[in-house]
Amino acid sequence: MIKPHGANELTSLYIASDSERAKAIEAADALPSLLISSGAAGNAVMMGAGYFTPLTGYMNKADALSVADSMQTTAGLFWPTPVLNLVNDAGDITVGSTIALRDPNVDGQPVLATMAVEAIEQFTKEELAHIADKVYRTTDPEHPGVAAFLAEGTVSVSGPIQVLNFSYFETDFPDTFRTADAIRADIEKRGWNKVIAFQTRNPMHRAHEELCHMAMDQLDADGVVVHMLLGKLKPGDIPADVRDAAIRKMADVYFPPNTVSVTGYGFDMLYAGPREAVLHALFRQNMGATHLIVGRDHAGVGDYYGAFDAQTIFHDDVPEGALEIEIFEADHTAYSKKLDRVVMMRDVPDHTKEDFVLLSGTAVREMLGKGIAPPPEFSRPEVAQILMDYYQSL
Ligand code: ADX
Repeated sequence: MIKPHGANELTSLYIASDSERAKAIEAADALPSLLISSGAAGNAVMMGAGYFTPLTGYMNKADALSVADSMQTTAGLFWPTPVLNLVNDAGDITVGSTIALRDPNVDGQPVLATMAVEAIEQFTKEELAHIADKVYRTTDPEHPGVAAFLAEGTVSVSGPIQVLNFSYFETDFPDTFRTADAIRADIEKRGWNKVIAFQTRNPMHRAHEELCHMAMDQLDADGVVVHMLLGKLKPGDIPADVRDAAIRKMADVYFPPNTVSVTGYGFDMLYAGPREAVLHALFRQNMGATHLIVGRDHAGVGDYYGAFDAQTIFHDDVPEGALEIEIFEADHTAYSKKLDRVVMMRDVPDHTKEDFVLLSGTAVREMLGKGIAPPPEFSRPEVAQILMDYYQSL
């Protein structure tokens, strides 16, 4: 199986032993505590679940700046986005102490992780803007990822962590949330060798479904792991439980048995386009995928990125050999009225725009809200039904 990033084994920071975890949870209640941001909580869940192998904790300021500038830590580890724990105020927490990190996303703010504090460092506004500019390619506060990042705080509290639970992800999505270890074990059990990961934060329409089939055929792969984001999105995006139901229905009806596995991970969307695509590739390698599909406007939002910037970054900025996982680059995909099937536009140079069934996200939302199913060329009827039920319940 493909090796994890920068390591021979996953570094999953969740305390796997029940008895040791119970002891750590009890001891954590007596520790000084720090309420962390949703972004930092997502980082802890990803480190707990092995996805951020080989990190052992939050990055300090020097590493975060180095990663933003050159996609590598000060020790030379390839990494595309800072993994920070930023707060407004570290209170009376001191370097050298062990503290409890409290979860902002769960009622009662239970302890999510403990940390041995190695550094408490202040970022200037300029330094944070510099990070945003490098990672998100903009400092525009209207960008939802930049807005969330700049709202986290200016004080970094960093050090190695131990993770005590998987926040709301394991309780709210027991059938879908999976750790990297669990996905590796499942791939092994299924006997898959060539494994495609499909990143998504949306329900899967025909284009998404066919992208998976095309990648399977062209790579002669054994299976697809649909790996959906379960964390926070911008307002207006479809909630994870609805996406989950729609994707499961599609997988049940339209994929041959034992070719697809529907799973999810606990992390907030960054909307960082190209840099996030690289992070996506890195943590899919950690979960055992050999290929990641990167299509049009991957992890993008608004007009901040060019439609295929998330592909070119792998050629221009990811050093040879930095990652073992390979990218399946997909062109804009849509239903061809001429050919009566979903195609990639690069494969049909004779087509004009009018030859495709193209609908904007806004148009689709409007139709669904009115209880009108999008055409079957765009959405499978079973998927459309689940989405109509959701939009009409609003
Ligand atoms: S993402 O933010 O998680 O990337 P989304 O769930 O919409 O968004 O897309 C999942 C994957 O499918 C991404 O790799 C994206 O580039 C790709 N994709 C979505 N729609 C299309 C399309 N019509 N043509 C080509 N690629 C697409």
